[in-house]
Amino acid sequence: MKQFEEKILGEAALVRKKKPSGSQGSVAWKSPSNIAIVKYWGKRPGQIPANASFSLTLSRSHTITSIDYTVDASRKAPSIEFLFEGQVNDTFSKRVEKYLDSIKDFLPWLRYSGLKIHSENTFPHSTGIASSASAMSALSVCLCDIEREIYGEKGMEDFLRKASFLSRLGSGSASRSIYGPMAEWGSTSCLKESSDEYAIPVTNLHAVFSGLRDSILIIEKERKKVSSSFGHELMKTNPYAKLRFEAAEENMRRLCRAMKQGDLNQFIDIMENEALSLHAMMMTSSPGYLLMRPNTLEAIERLRTFRLDTGHPVGFTLDAGANLHVIYPEVHEDRIRAFIESDLKELCTDGRVIHDEAGMGPEKQ
Ligand code: DP6
Repeated sequence: MKQFEEKILGEAALVRKKKPSGSQGSVAWKSPSNIAIVKYWGKRPGQIPANASFSLTLSRSHTITSIDYTVDASRKAPSIEFLFEGQVNDTFSKRVEKYLDSIKDFLPWLRYSGLKIHSENTFPHSTGIASSASAMSALSVCLCDIEREIYGEKGMEDFLRKASFLSRLGSGSASRSIYGPMAEWGSTSCLKESSDEYAIPVTNLHAVFSGLRDSILIIEKERKKVSSSFGHELMKTNPYAKLRFEAAEENMRRLCRAMKQGDLNQFIDIMENEALSLHAMMMTSSPGYLLMRPNTLEAIERLRTFRLDTGHPVGFTLDAGANLHVIYPEVHEDRIRAFIESDLKELCTDGRVIHDEAGMGPEKQ
């Protein structure tokens, strides 16, 4: 049941009655990427996740989006101009136009708006880092902010929830970028406020989880050859899909327990199981595919040996790509960074490692 969607549609009907004449202005927001600990992989119609997911919000890998807008009910049709890093980009423009068209029932003023959108990423080019979470969340927060400027203040909770709801419709994982330092999206028995329609912040963390670090090993800098959307689609025919969705729910439950108890070793165990399960799903899809590279496996081996030898609480996770995310607590930063320098850096393209850390979500510019 899409309760929140109904609420938003109800509000949109009221907004439609208050047609503005000639509102204009500009908004700008910076929104981060996130890395999933429990993975979203597989969806149901209407951008509903097949299982709940949980992520760490990053702080250095951002998209900054600004929109100059005019909204006037006398306008016959919307107009959209989209620039990515100062350049026309047809692929991104089409995606943005399609997205704006798909959400116009939730933001009725879009039908008579003129938008000049400019977007740029703060993370380096050619690092294979997925940008849809930061890009779609930055765009959605900007749209919610325009609505707030035209129609008046909304409480912060409602504002962020709508931004998360709209982000989800652009890209599932983007729904989680709205909250930091950790966020959860999708109904799960272990968090009673959880929803398939939007993400929620995960607060009251045990001290061991505050300030987590994510050092991203750039094993491969080219963009991934198989899109996540296609990967989700392939789950419809994957023979292990049902088991995977059950395992993800079990991992969510274990994770909630580990987070409450401050059990870092359990957290790492679940995180690595999730990363390998995600890639197992890719390998067992039809057609099957492999995104890990030999150096991804070598880095995993070295990291596990280091952990066994030193007892340091460090683990890895993977996105839908070859790059390894090395996750560890702030207190072990010096020792683990030294290990990355001496043993893992040589496995990266051009020795590239991006050191990121937990962040608090979007910021108004
Ligand atoms: C492996 O959110 O990119 O990063 O909803 O089709 O845009 P769409 O997919 P997307 O999928 C993310 C997949 C993942 C896991 C995760 O972030 O949970």
